[in-house]
Amino acid sequence: MAREKASRTAYKVALNIMALGSKPEMDTILPTGILEATEKLLFYSGAVGPKTLKWSKSNRAVSVYYAFDWILPGQFEAFAHRKAFCERQVRDGIDRGAVQILILGAGYDTLGWRLAPEFPGVTFFEIDHPATHRLKAKGIEAMGCRENLILIGEDLGRRKLLDVLDSVVLWEKTSQALIIAEGLLMYLTPGAVLNLFSQCARIVGDGSRMAFSYIPSGADGRPDAGPWTGLVLWLQKVVGEPWLWSIRPEELGPFLEGAGWKDRPAHSGKMRKHGVEFYGVAAR
Ligand SMILES: C[S@@+](CC[C@H](N)C(=O)[O-])C[C@H]1O[C@@H](n2cnc3c(N)ncnc32)[C@H](O)[C@@H]1O
Repeated sequence: MAREKASRTAYKVALNIMALGSKPEMDTILPTGILEATEKLLFYSGAVGPKTLKWSKSNRAVSVYYAFDWILPGQFEAFAHRKAFCERQVRDGIDRGAVQILILGAGYDTLGWRLAPEFPGVTFFEIDHPATHRLKAKGIEAMGCRENLILIGEDLGRRKLLDVLDSVVLWEKTSQALIIAEGLLMYLTPGAVLNLFSQCARIVGDGSRMAFSYIPSGADGRPDAGPWTGLVLWLQKVVGEPWLWSIRPEELGPFLEGAGWKDRPAHSGKMRKHGVEFYGVAAR
């Protein structure tokens, strides 16, 4: 990812969420409060101006997103399901005793900001690339900081998660945690993904879980984004955020075991796939 620029794909996910808000049937899927919080965050961070925000909430935006859905089939609505999946995992994790929530590659996600006041006994941590983190931090400051939400700017491709969290005083390596890696893993190299899972396994206590989304590999071993995979991979490269990692769902179990986790497909929901992404849950 280009180091000096804020993530375009994080911005795209957030605008997608805004557009999904214009579809009444999405009310039952999108997490409560996500639209208002995302709008505020995009505005106060300076990522988006009022005109773009207004457009993103229009029926025209919905039509444009559907018109381009052929490139990544089903992915427009899939973002709502992805947000719902992550929030479900976090709420479920807290119910089961997690006291630390770590959101990797958080982008303009508002889950930490929204849930922090509801769960004062839980600490929410977010890590993102410094360029995106700077905008996010500006937005969160304007929206009102949460005492139990800690934003960290780090390039996980360059600095180990273990080292990053070693310098975060409040992170407790032996406490139960829930880690989210939503829409992140495809941007890391295979070595970095294996490292990330292995390091995550070493920074959490018993009963912890990690919820994530991933792109499945096709027969040729490349990420499989549907019939237009070649175009998608090229476009991702052009915008400076190439897709570097994917895995066949049947290989996920052994992969996670090699990294110190156990696959928990039963916890990833009835539908493990929405759009071009699969959802996974790993447990310690
Ligand atoms: C597609 S966006 C997803 C954002 C958010 N998780 C969501 O789904 O709304 C990918 C995010 O991963 C972050 N990211 C990519 N490579 C990273 C790296 N090496 N270190 C830290 N964050 C990274 C980007 O800055 C961006 O915010």
